[in-house]
Amino acid sequence: MVSTVSEHAAQVLVASNRGPVSYTLLEDGTLAAKRGGGGLVSGLSAIGRAGEETASLWVCAALGDGDREAVRRGEGTAGVRMLDIDAGVHADAYNGIANSVLWFVHHMLYQTPLEPVFDTEFRRQWAAYETYNRAFADALASEAAPGAAVLVQDYHLCLVPGMLRELRPDLRIGHFTHTPWAPVDYFRLLPDDIARQLLRGLLGADRVAFLTRRWADAFAACAVEVLGAEALEGTAVGVHGLGADAEFLRERAHQEDVNEWMVRLRERVGAGRRTIVRVDRTELSKNIVRGLLAYRRLLADRPEWRGQVVHIAFAYPSRQDLEVYRDYTAAVRRLADEINAEYGTDDWQPVLMELDDDFGRSLAAYRMADVALVNPIRDGMNLVAKEVPVVSDAGCALVLSREAGAYEELGGDAIVVNPYDIGATADALHAALVMEPGERAERTKRLSAAATALPPAAWFLAQLSALTTGA
Ligand code: G6P
Repeated sequence: MVSTVSEHAAQVLVASNRGPVSYTLLEDGTLAAKRGGGGLVSGLSAIGRAGEETASLWVCAALGDGDREAVRRGEGTAGVRMLDIDAGVHADAYNGIANSVLWFVHHMLYQTPLEPVFDTEFRRQWAAYETYNRAFADALASEAAPGAAVLVQDYHLCLVPGMLRELRPDLRIGHFTHTPWAPVDYFRLLPDDIARQLLRGLLGADRVAFLTRRWADAFAACAVEVLGAEALEGTAVGVHGLGADAEFLRERAHQEDVNEWMVRLRERVGAGRRTIVRVDRTELSKNIVRGLLAYRRLLADRPEWRGQVVHIAFAYPSRQDLEVYRDYTAAVRRLADEINAEYGTDDWQPVLMELDDDFGRSLAAYRMADVALVNPIRDGMNLVAKEVPVVSDAGCALVLSREAGAYEELGGDAIVVNPYDIGATADALHAALVMEPGERAERTKRLSAAATALPPAAWFLAQLSALTTGA
């Protein structure tokens, strides 16, 4: 079946759950639009519109009441189409399947003696995931010009390539996964039919791509194991390691609010003290609890650091609709309080924790960090590891988990840790704190160069060109 193509058809389309803009309904009844940043936004805007407004289109889901209201009023943003998918269907697909099953599988987050349990509730939510993917496939099919390129993003939309291929065999379809990919044995926790459906959905694409070779290889291994040796015929598997946007970061990191934050943070840290900085979304995979345990171990085993170092930990709430995330956020806060109660003195607070998101304050912490701690148990890339060296004022030692995607590019100049090993992480923090300033600065330069090798716009265009040229 070939669906009707709209007369303002787009040549390049992006599809993702979260779009580049969100709307808030104000008290006076008007809608305020807020534009997001990130790699896809700058990538898509890098595409020449050649005088034609509809040359590119971003298809995304309406996420909140403001977004839904904007769709209903027809108050869209040019180049963006928001899908007003039923709120219950969206919640089941996004919270139930994408965030609670697919995210958990790829980050290996289950406590397997008791979970996952794939029962009737799972099947109900899976049906919603199919409906939600179908809505994207239908929208893309009706908006794409003949032969257009479609770049589908992430684990929310695994079924879209296969569905779209059936509707529009003429399109060039790419899929990009921003998370890790599970190893075969872990991927096989999924019910067999679901595992097959996910892989077939993705393999409907001409090209699937990942952030690192490790995740690409894991995907290929799952495809061959579950679907057989010929599974990958007809689909190319690529790797594009998203880098930091040096130009944007350096400019933003020297704006007034950042300078002001630096003064305030320095005051709270205390003159002459060293800083260990971490900035994360409070996400189960980020391993914030073990990071705090390692810092506590450092203070316990090496009393010379007491009063001499402050751990700045910004842990911004994420996915608070899910109980397990709320519990984790509470555990992080509790442990920080415990450490402060155990070791704090009148003029020294060992952990400075902030939970409200402020990008300017994060950049201030990046600039002044002596040590950056990035210790996820598993992470698709981890851009914090890449951003800190880019904006660091005086050089910063990076303690980096070998399970972060960024390890592939930054491992050589980082102090690498097994994220489960508290003692080894504490030792790594010590080694980072005592690293000679000269060596630290040299390493930071090399880290920064590696971190910016493929900035967001180039990353996006590389995917697009590989898809359209068949490279
Ligand atoms: C992280 C992941 C992305 C994912 C995003 C979703 O940034 O790296 O793979 O798409 O989270 O976040 P959200 O807040 O939309 O659930």
